[in-house]
Amino acid sequence: MRQIIIAGNWKMHKTVAEAVSFVEELKQKNHGTEVEAVVCPTFTALAAVAEALKGSNIALGAQNMHWETQGAYTGEISPAMLKELGVKYVILGHSERRQFFGETDQGVNLKVKAALAFGLVPIVCVGETLEQREAGTTEEIVTLQTEGALKDLTPEQVAGLVIAYEPIWAIGTGRTASDEDAQQVNQSIRQVIAQRFGSAAAEAVRIQYGGSVKPGNARGLMSQPDIDGGLVGGASLKVEDFAGIIENCR
Ligand code: 13P
Repeated sequence: MRQIIIAGNWKMHKTVAEAVSFVEELKQKNHGTEVEAVVCPTFTALAAVAEALKGSNIALGAQNMHWETQGAYTGEISPAMLKELGVKYVILGHSERRQFFGETDQGVNLKVKAALAFGLVPIVCVGETLEQREAGTTEEIVTLQTEGALKDLTPEQVAGLVIAYEPIWAIGTGRTASDEDAQQVNQSIRQVIAQRFGSAAAEAVRIQYGGSVKPGNARGLMSQPDIDGGLVGGASLKVEDFAGIIENCR
C-alpha cells in the first residue's frame, strides 16, 4: 500500500515568522498517520520550521538544490546543507524552475542523483504545457521528462521516489485536470517506470498530482488508483485549506 503524501510547496511566500506560525497552527490539527504531510518553505525559513516541526509527524521539504556538495556556485544551496537542517524531501525540476531558471531534464537528473546520495527523497516534477496538451503530446512529453530525470537510477532508488505530475496549465490557474485525465497521465508514468525499472519499482513509487488542488477536489483526485498524493501550491498557504486537503484524503 502506498501512503498518500500531501506536500505544500510554498514557493516564494512566507517570512520566517509567518512560516513558523503556520506550522504551529498546523500541528494542532493532528492529522493522524494515514496521510504523510510535508511543508516546503523557502530556504531562509527551513531551519526555523525544522525546529518548530520537532516532535510532530509533519515532514520538511525544500524547493530546490544544486547537485554539487559545495563549491563556487553563488546563490546556490547544496544537498549537504539541506540534510544538515533535517530536510527529508526536495522538490526537483518544478515547471517554474524549468521555465524561469532554465532547468533541463539533464540537470534534474544530476540533482536527483545528488539528493539520493545524501539520503534526501526527491519529489520529481513533470508536466506538459497547454500547447503540448492541445497537440496531444502530453504522454510523450511526460515520458521524456520522467526518463530523463530518472536516467541511470536503480530500481530500488526509483521505488523510493516521489514523482509529481503537474500539468503547467493547471498550476495557479484554478483549472484542475479532471480526475480521469490526471489518473490517465499518472498511470502512463507508472507504466513507463514498469518498463524501465520493473514492476516492483512501479508498484512502490508514489506519484502525486499537482495543479489547483483544493479541499473540494482532493478526495476525487486521491481516490484514483494511480494518484498517491498532491503537490499543493496556493491552497497550501492557508492552514485551513491545507489541513482540509489532508483531512479529505484520509
Ligand atoms: P497551485 O496549487 O497553486 O496550482 O500550484 C501547484 C504547484 O505548482 C505545486 O508545486
